[in-house]
Amino acid sequence: MTLWAAHAGIAKRYVIADSLDAISHLWKAIIERPGNTAKRYRGIWEGGRIGGLDYFNEVRARYNDERDPVDLLYLVCRCVKNAVRFNASGVFTQSVDKRRYGMHPDKMDHAIKGASALLRGRTEVCCGDWLETLRGATPRDFVYMDPPYLGTSVGRDKRYAHQISQERLIGGLEILLTKKLRFALSYDGRTGEKEYGPPLPASLGMTRLLLHAGVSSQATLSGRREETIESLYMSPGLAEPRAEIIRRKEAAQESLAL
Ligand SMILES: C[S@@+](CC[C@H](N)C(=O)[O-])C[C@H]1O[C@@H](n2cnc3c(N)ncnc32)[C@H](O)[C@@H]1O
Repeated sequence: MTLWAAHAGIAKRYVIADSLDAISHLWKAIIERPGNTAKRYRGIWEGGRIGGLDYFNEVRARYNDERDPVDLLYLVCRCVKNAVRFNASGVFTQSVDKRRYGMHPDKMDHAIKGASALLRGRTEVCCGDWLETLRGATPRDFVYMDPPYLGTSVGRDKRYAHQISQERLIGGLEILLTKKLRFALSYDGRTGEKEYGPPLPASLGMTRLLLHAGVSSQATLSGRREETIESLYMSPGLAEPRAEIIRRKEAAQESLAL
């Protein structure tokens, strides 16, 4: 979202925040040291071409020991279905995807340098809990939040180093609403017939939009064709309620008409 907003030139300053140190450090490396970051990714990726399947486990062990953000970038690109998994201590536990090599370094070089060109000099990267990093936000800002979904935060299928229970999320949103912050929140939805968690309570007064997010790549890799629908909750007054699913083509036509 930040990259899209910077590309569209809709704000003067951006703040990116995450509670996981390595993610924040990765964004700093991409924005401030794009050449070095792309070169380091290339070196790690090329090691995988000659190192065999054990190579991934070596990089994973090194990341878990040293928490180097570029090692994390490689692991994210090379792990099963690009679906990251951490245990409660922040140890990366996902395995190698035997069917793919992970993003080619030429493509990564282009992506890293493009991101840096868009964000450098206008972006602050913070690390911490969302309510801490949002402390300085005012109603003049616009906030986009993409927290871990309930489906990956409770039960057996926990994927993130830090989870947010729905109770904590609701409590936090109440604080943001009291401060009259303008925000959008991606949260849950459904893939095929599988619903992820109950909707957020209507008492919060937010508008829930249903976005067609495309065909689920995870389902495709498992031989099924399933559509993913994501909820986008908007703070009061930002969007008209709509019962139907918003598809990309219609959304593009509507924004052209505006
Ligand atoms: C669905 S991912 C979002 C990824 C992000 N949009 C991106 O594309 O890089 C959820 C993120 O929320 C972070 N997170 C979990 N608990 C958090 C908290 N209490 N405060 C801030 N971030 C948190 C996780 O570390 C994870 O990176």
